Amino acid sequence: MKRTVIRELLDNPSFGQTVCVKGWVRTRRGSKQVAFVALNDGSTINNIQIVIDLGNFDEEMLKDITTGACLRVEGRLVESQGQGQSAEIQAKEVKIYGKADPSVYPLQKKGHSLEFLREIAYLRPRTNTFGAVFRLRHHLAFAIHDYFNKKGFYYFHTPIITGSDAEGAGQMFHVTALDPDNLPKTDEGKVDYAQDFFGRHTNLTVSGQLEGELGAMALGGIYTFGPTFRAENSNTPRHLAEFWMIEPEVAFYDINDNMDMAEEFLKYVISYALEHGKDDIDFLAKMYDNELVTRLKFILDSKFIRLTYTEGVEILEKSGRKFEFPVYWGADLQSEHERYLVEEHFKCPVIMTDYPKEIKSFYMKQNEDGKTVRGMDVLFPKIGEIIGGSEREADYDKLLRRINELNMSLDSLWWYLDTRRFGTAPHAGFGLGFERLVLFVTGMTNIRDVIPFPRTPKNAEF
Ligand code: 4AD
Ligand code: MG
Repeated sequence: MKRTVIRELLDNPSFGQTVCVKGWVRTRRGSKQVAFVALNDGSTINNIQIVIDLGNFDEEMLKDITTGACLRVEGRLVESQGQGQSAEIQAKEVKIYGKADPSVYPLQKKGHSLEFLREIAYLRPRTNTFGAVFRLRHHLAFAIHDYFNKKGFYYFHTPIITGSDAEGAGQMFHVTALDPDNLPKTDEGKVDYAQDFFGRHTNLTVSGQLEGELGAMALGGIYTFGPTFRAENSNTPRHLAEFWMIEPEVAFYDINDNMDMAEEFLKYVISYALEHGKDDIDFLAKMYDNELVTRLKFILDSKFIRLTYTEGVEILEKSGRKFEFPVYWGADLQSEHERYLVEEHFKCPVIMTDYPKEIKSFYMKQNEDGKTVRGMDVLFPKIGEIIGGSEREADYDKLLRRINELNMSLDSLWWYLDTRRFGTAPHAGFGLGFERLVLFVTGMTNIRDVIPFPRTPKNAEF
């Protein structure tokens, strides 16, 4: 008999019919005569209750129906008498696919701490919390593709192995096929990457932007959605060494178009999650954060405040607040500063623009003042920076001058500069850190809890 997924059964119960479900036991309770098994197959946060009349089944088999075991159940779907569920299955046939010995299976009925669950990240998707988080992660990913597709942008695949440092921040993981115990050397005693797999030095990408710009200069509007890697040793609740980034890049957009798009995009994907992930959001709100739904709806209803870095720094200086990191014009703003502006001063998401050029990447469009660049960060409550982007420097000479000022290597950037030689155009784009979005939408507080297998300093288990 064909399996029905539990979500469908609960959404559209055809009472009286015989059905087949397959899933993992969450809990088992009952008496000498009857067992009530809560079965979950991951399709929804909700379990289906299986009622097993013990007298009709083999005693040995019944012993193995314990938390974590995987079952196939055939039985009659009936309206439930019990509270908290609408439908239940009166079991006619039960088959155990896989046992889970209760003396060793780590996920028992009692609640576990998020820290403990991180240590068993290979099993945590089977908990209510992580099931909810990962289903929401899926809905958000789908909404992102949906948004750009509706806008007529093309999904453009940028390489994961690159020869350049897109952000110029030097936080790269090297990629090599050379034997670290026996490295070929040049006459000057440096590693001879000419003998490496690609015949040059390569690394894992920190951003798809530079190649994304090449796409925008041909297809008009593109977006990337892929993994990016940063070897920055920041052990914070908002940083991962491997994270997913969404980077739209659009020809003929200026910074204002870019800000409009960022705001519309965030509202679209959040409202999609509220609509399609309601059960999971409600569960997470109940368990972890009762302000969650209000906060998400607030984003949809608010007009993001736009202000310049210079204005932002003035507000921070006048706030009279003692920050851990001092604020002055030229300082790179820390999450405490961003959150002060968003959560306490404006009480609203903020898009900050026109940063000092020294604290931003080489590719940002230079302003007339010679001091600032046309960058923009979107700052969110609880999160701080969720998006970073800019209008790009489209002028060949200005871009080349900046690359030289920063002593960046032209060897790995000549092709990027060429876009400014051949049919250059004003353009802009941004990068959304996917996990920061998932953090915001799930109300989780540690970025390690919104990606199935987090990569952070000293941690690459599973
Ligand atoms: O601000 P970032 O470094 O900007 C870029 O990479 C640009 N190339 C984007 C563009 O204009 N196309 O990173 C963009 C976003 C940040 O706002 C943040 O949300 C996220 O990526 N991010 C991280 N998320 C998790 N862990 C990290 N270590 C992150 N670093 C950045
Ligand atoms: Mg940034």
